[in-house]
Amino acid sequence: MLDVFHFFMNTVTLLQPPRIVFGNGCAPQCAEFLAQRGVGRVLLVSSTPVLPTIGGIKDALQKANVTIVQAPPVDREPTRAMFEEVLKAARAEKIEGVLAIGGGSAIDVAKLVAALTHGKQTVPEVFGINLLQGRELPLVCLPTTSGTGAEVSPNAILLDETDELKKGVVSPHLVADAAFVDPLLTLSVPPAVTAATGLDALTHCIEAYANKFAHPVVDVYALQGIKVISANLLRAVRNGSDTEARAQLSLGSLYGGLCLGPVNTAAVHALSYPLGGRFHIAHGVSNAVLLPNVIRFNLPAAPERYAEIALALGVTPGNSVQQTAERGVQMLAELSRACGVPQKLSELKIPREAIPAMAKAAMQVTRLLKNNLRPVTEADAVKIYEATY
Ligand SMILES: NC(=O)c1ccc[n+]([C@@H]2O[C@H](COP(=O)([O-])OP(=O)(O)OC[C@H]3O[C@@H](n4cnc5c(N)ncnc54)[C@H](O)[C@@H]3O)[C@@H](O)[C@H]2O)c1
Ligand SMILES: [Fe+2]
Repeated sequence: MLDVFHFFMNTVTLLQPPRIVFGNGCAPQCAEFLAQRGVGRVLLVSSTPVLPTIGGIKDALQKANVTIVQAPPVDREPTRAMFEEVLKAARAEKIEGVLAIGGGSAIDVAKLVAALTHGKQTVPEVFGINLLQGRELPLVCLPTTSGTGAEVSPNAILLDETDELKKGVVSPHLVADAAFVDPLLTLSVPPAVTAATGLDALTHCIEAYANKFAHPVVDVYALQGIKVISANLLRAVRNGSDTEARAQLSLGSLYGGLCLGPVNTAAVHALSYPLGGRFHIAHGVSNAVLLPNVIRFNLPAAPERYAEIALALGVTPGNSVQQTAERGVQMLAELSRACGVPQKLSELKIPREAIPAMAKAAMQVTRLLKNNLRPVTEADAVKIYEATY
């Protein structure tokens, strides 16, 4: 059972970009930052729908005498092969820094390119925790989704085609030198992506608040993130031009990202990776579909924590901690449904016969399962997938 004493017994380390800039219209400031760092040629890692929206940033880079070298666009959640293609482009040019402007997909590729362009290690050598030896190139990240929080996290995720698993590189060297969070960059995100990415950010906050390594230092981000995301997600899905809702979601996504380094996620993310790895379901959708049933599984381990999450989501308190917590789970499912996100694995066209293999694959995500409030066995994973079918 979690209690306050337990939290204070844990040591927590916050590693964040030394500069985090937040605000409408702040994006072009990245040009001055790069120029001051002596970056005269920067590799721009972005995606096709984002490129036409960043004229203002390109102008600012030109004014600051920073030449852009355009990397091949990262238009899907990145595989090792996609990463290698960008790495090759980076090595073919004399670049002095890396600028990511995109969702988690582009940002993750940019982070690894910044570390490995001059590095001697290969990707398989750095999958895991603290295996990366260093990063020579300056790295600046601008998120265009709300979102993964990758702009402030020490993580990067690639799909390894060899075993169809999504794998993480976790390292302090992957923390960017600066993050510029400009909510205006998210105005063009289509409704379905707004929904999926917003539910991913919400999941980061929930999994950090109800986590074996939860800590008061991080709880503040997590709870506040849950509040602002749940209050604004549907608004932004229904009206993408709602600048107020977009700014709140950017804030919530940043809060979620700040939870990732010190505490990180747990079983929702671990069980969702096989959906992305094998069936290429978008990361946010995979999490959203599993979130209610993983919470139902975890709830007996920390009902108070889940009740606090429920209150942050805005439920009316029930007659007991248990009832309040259950109302929270209900509300999450309703929010996800209202956002138009599929609720069942069957809706995602995942064959039922795939469940045992998915459970086996999820068991390999030990770096996240170790954070979960309850131990998850392979049989538990099968049950959670079955309940979500
Ligand atoms: N590094 C981390 O800490 C971390 C955390 C969570 C997730 N992830 C990873 O991030 C990836 C998912 O990132 P994501 O959810 O941000 O989605 P994404 O980057 O894949 O973007 C989704 C889609 O939206 C488009 N898009 C992005 N910004 C847009 C904009 N402003 N306007 C119009 N279209 C836009 C993209 O081109 C893409 O087609 C996954 O691979 C996931 O595993 C990383
Ligand atoms: Fe995530």
